[in-house]
Amino acid sequence: MTDQAYHLIGVMGWPVMHSRSPLMHNYWFSQTGLPGKYVFLPLEPHRLPAALRSLHALNFAGANLTIPHKLQAMEIVDEVDPVARKIGAISCVVVRDDGSLWGTNNDWLGFLGNLKQSVPEWRGDAGPATVIGAGGGSRAICHALLSEGAPAVRLVNRTRAKAERLAADIGGPIEVIGWEARHDALDGAATVVNTTSLGMVGQPPLDLRLDALGAEAVVADIVYTPLETRFVKAAQARGNRAVGGLGMLIHQGPPAWKLWFGLEPKVTDELRSMMEKSILGDG
Ligand code: ATR
Repeated sequence: MTDQAYHLIGVMGWPVMHSRSPLMHNYWFSQTGLPGKYVFLPLEPHRLPAALRSLHALNFAGANLTIPHKLQAMEIVDEVDPVARKIGAISCVVVRDDGSLWGTNNDWLGFLGNLKQSVPEWRGDAGPATVIGAGGGSRAICHALLSEGAPAVRLVNRTRAKAERLAADIGGPIEVIGWEARHDALDGAATVVNTTSLGMVGQPPLDLRLDALGAEAVVADIVYTPLETRFVKAAQARGNRAVGGLGMLIHQGPPAWKLWFGLEPKVTDELRSMMEKSILGDG
C-alpha cells in the first residue's frame, strides 16, 4: 500500500468516547477493503478551530462532528452547504483537494435512509407529520420530512419560542402546536417522530397518549439508548410500524462515505446487529 492510499477519518466531540461511529466506519473499511482507519478525536471546544485546520496536513479526508462542535464549526469551515446552514449545524466535514474545508449535514439523510430501509412503504407525502421537540435533531428531521413532500409538519415543543424559531429558519408548512396539545396532534398524522431526549436512559419517558394515532401512521424515535423506547414499543403494540433511532445514526454514514471516498458502503444486517450488541453491552 502506498502512503497516499491510507485514508483517515474521525469523530470530533467532547465527550466522544461513547460514540459508536468508529465501530461502524471501521466495519466499512474492512467491508470495502479500502485501507484506512476511523478514530476517536476527543476535543475540548476551544481546540476545534486548530483541529479542523489540521485535518488537511494530517491527510484526513474529513471528520464527523458531534456535541458540542456542530454549531461552532459553521464559523470555521470555508464553505457551509446550504442544507447545513438551514438545519443550523454541521455534522460532516470534507477536506477538499486544495485543503479547504466544506461542511454539510447528513443527519436528515440518515433519518430518511433508515425509514426507507425499515419501512419501505413509508411515503413522506402520505399526510401531515407530527414532530415532537425542536432541538438540533428536530431541525434535520423537519427538513427531511418537508423534502419528502410532507404537506404539513405539526411541531410540538415544550418551549414554544424555540419551535417558532425553527419554523422560521426551516421555512415551509410548519405549524407550531403547544406542548399541552401534543396528544391530539397525532390525529390524522401519517408520520410521528420523537426528537426530544425523553425516553433516553436516565431521562423521563415521553408522555404522549397514542389514542389518536391512526393505524397507518409510521412512528420514529431518534433515541437509540434504549434501542426501542417505551414510545416505540407502545406504537408497535398498537400495530403501527415504529423504528428506533439507531438506524438514523447508521444511515448518515453512507452519504458521508460518498463525499469522502466516492463510494457508498452497505447498511447490512450484520452491521446493525453489531451496533445493537455494542449498545446492549453498555446496559
Ligand atoms: P438536540 O440538539 O439533540 O435535539 P436539544 O437542542 O437539547 O438537543 O433539544 C432537546 C429537545 O428535547 C428540545 O425540544 C427540548 O425541549 P425544550 O426546547 O423545551 O428544551 C426537549 N426536551 C428535553 N427535555 C424535555 C422535557 N423534560 N420535557 C419536554 N421536552 C424536553
